[in-house]
Amino acid sequence: MTTLAGREIVLGVTGGIAAYKACEIIRELRREGANVHVILTAAGAHFITPLTLQTLSRNPVYMNMFDLISESEIGHISLAQRAHLLMIVPATANTMGRIRNGIADDLLSTVVMATAAPVLLAPAMNSQMYASPAVRENAEVLRERGFTIVDPDEGELACGTVGPGRLADTGRIVEMARILLSEKLLAGKKVVVSAGPTAEDMDPVRYLTNRSSGRMGFAMAVTARRFGADVTLVAGPTPLPAPPFLTTVRVRSAKEMMGEVTAAAEGADAVVMAAAVADFRPDSAAQKKIKKEKFDRTLALVPTDDILSSLGRTKGTRVLVGFAAETNDLEENAVEKMRRKNLDAIVANDVSRSDIGFGSDSNEVRVYFSDGTAIDLAMAAKDAIASAVWRAVCRKFLPA
Ligand code: CTP
Repeated sequence: MTTLAGREIVLGVTGGIAAYKACEIIRELRREGANVHVILTAAGAHFITPLTLQTLSRNPVYMNMFDLISESEIGHISLAQRAHLLMIVPATANTMGRIRNGIADDLLSTVVMATAAPVLLAPAMNSQMYASPAVRENAEVLRERGFTIVDPDEGELACGTVGPGRLADTGRIVEMARILLSEKLLAGKKVVVSAGPTAEDMDPVRYLTNRSSGRMGFAMAVTARRFGADVTLVAGPTPLPAPPFLTTVRVRSAKEMMGEVTAAAEGADAVVMAAAVADFRPDSAAQKKIKKEKFDRTLALVPTDDILSSLGRTKGTRVLVGFAAETNDLEENAVEKMRRKNLDAIVANDVSRSDIGFGSDSNEVRVYFSDGTAIDLAMAAKDAIASAVWRAVCRKFLPA
């Protein structure tokens, strides 16, 4: 089940050219099982039709505060009360100003005032307007009052100028909705997650690597962020884009990963090593490409430093979680690794199966804990697996 499943979301659409992007937001929210109720302002209706929004949301679109039919069907107070989250996409400078000043002269501004749910604003406007002292101050005051603002991106704007003001990427806006609707199991906690393979260079062209896609580690990092942690993701070479609202540090080799993970682990409450760190590297990386006739066909390898073992030696109260990719004797191998590396938990998966693990969106794992217990997590999306792993880790080792 996704974070958004079964959630009631009120989506305010105000009068800016980015209003059409509300369509994408509705589709994404609905795809994950949310029930979306749109409030369209009078200015918003100049940019997008209620019929479009109604068709996509499959719910009536509310436009007027004193519309007798809408009021009898649901009513503005009930709309405000039933919302788990209120999103305003796009939010114009005018809407922000009215909310900041406590003006409630239309349905949307009234519902904002009447709701106890979190409110997310995604501003979109011309760069000059966005930079104006009034908008800056309004945004600051709204943040202080607990509103969440997803800052606009920089880019080409509809008015022809280039600069900040373009509505944030819709994926980013929806991710903030997931964050706002997730339980804060890791609030105030600092978490480090490693992900992906490492690449060990032989020369400027050739290198040794492995089949890790980074997806499981990215899911662990994104989920920890949703649960309220301050997250640093240390990622080896993977084409996956940096997830929003957390810090991503890109590395290449096991040595670089060791440096970045060790630095980030300073003061961390939990470190999760989901990366498939190379166990060996070529004993030297040639500065120039090795000519094939000069290559003696035997690659001399030296072991890399074991990052988890090194963290395990100075463990303290920090929770350490490892991953074990096994093709056979899953339990025996995984539990032995957990003990040897002084871990609190190890997530074991069977990489001999082609339907799970490397490159796949799904996974099925067994998690072993240092207290001798274990849990089986049946086949599910990597996000759902990550959420279950974090829940178990929080319950056992990181109580709120
Ligand atoms: N790990 C690490 N540093 C390394 C190698 C691995 O921190 N240099 C971490 C991985 O991120 C993972 C766990 O250790 O969390 C995996 O343990 P490891 O013994 O490396 O597993 P395998 O490589 O699968 O070991 P083996 O080849 O012996 O099965």
